[in-house]
Amino acid sequence: MSRIAYVNGRYVPHRDAVVHVEDRGYQFADGVYEVSAVRDGVVIDMEPHLDRLERSLRELSISPPMSRAALAVVIREVVRRNRVRDGLFYLQITRGVARRDHAFPAAARPSVVVTARSVDPARAEAMARQGVGVITVPDIRWERCDIKSVSLLPNVLAKQQARAAGAYEAWLVDEAGRVTEGSSTNAWIVDRDGALVTRSIDNAILSGITRAAVMELARLQQIRVVERSFTLDEAKSAREAFITSTTSYVLPVVSVDGVKIGNGQPGEVARRLRELYAGYMAGQQDRRQAGR
Ligand code: PDD
Repeated sequence: MSRIAYVNGRYVPHRDAVVHVEDRGYQFADGVYEVSAVRDGVVIDMEPHLDRLERSLRELSISPPMSRAALAVVIREVVRRNRVRDGLFYLQITRGVARRDHAFPAAARPSVVVTARSVDPARAEAMARQGVGVITVPDIRWERCDIKSVSLLPNVLAKQQARAAGAYEAWLVDEAGRVTEGSSTNAWIVDRDGALVTRSIDNAILSGITRAAVMELARLQQIRVVERSFTLDEAKSAREAFITSTTSYVLPVVSVDGVKIGNGQPGEVARRLRELYAGYMAGQQDRRQAGR
């Protein structure tokens, strides 16, 4: 089956899905994006992702290219046309095409691209059962990491360093020795008292949609959540560690820079939260099937 992408108003074969060479996304990384999971054909957390997208656009003064409802229709249509049951969609909006000049163009129409692809859920489950290793690297990003911008070079370099070291993720560490977040995930630990600790939302991290959902699920289970920074030393001596994102859900971390976390096996709390999160996603499928 051939893949289909949405590019500026048209559904086109993936291999023909192109934007102009003077697109500002290409030349300046002048754009934003969203990624969300698809489970059983249902887009997970569509509304919070669209909320965050609108905020990112606002922060960069890019006008929304279409209504929120229209965007949701396009996303669902791309998912449907690609017959994605389990996988993800990717959406990117840039400031558009204009003669190269750093300042905003007087008139440019934002470019919109949406793609979707399947991901094998069995592989993700196998990884969750084993847990993953993370390495740490200095956080060399800018001061607006709250904007989900396509300007991801430091994240790309960090992730590549992780891969080269045989790790799944790189945690970014600020000048004070505190973990900000992962290159494409939010970072969590479980402290000695069994409380979840994750950095509070500020400009140094992305406000993860999965982070928010997991936080709520934990609170419903009377698991204490503390929003504060934690240091690398704290992480290494934590009872458990894990990461969250739209594509990895809740993924246990079993080592940090080669140091075992807990007994080096996925922790109980992380495992439980992953289960709860699976139930949360299944609940969205039920609601959609019921037409709500
Ligand atoms: N990344 N922090 C960063 C830097 C991220 O890029 C992401 C998501 C997250 C987690 O956010 P959420 O729970 O909303 O997915 C945190 C996506 C998956 C990506 O770039 O592919």
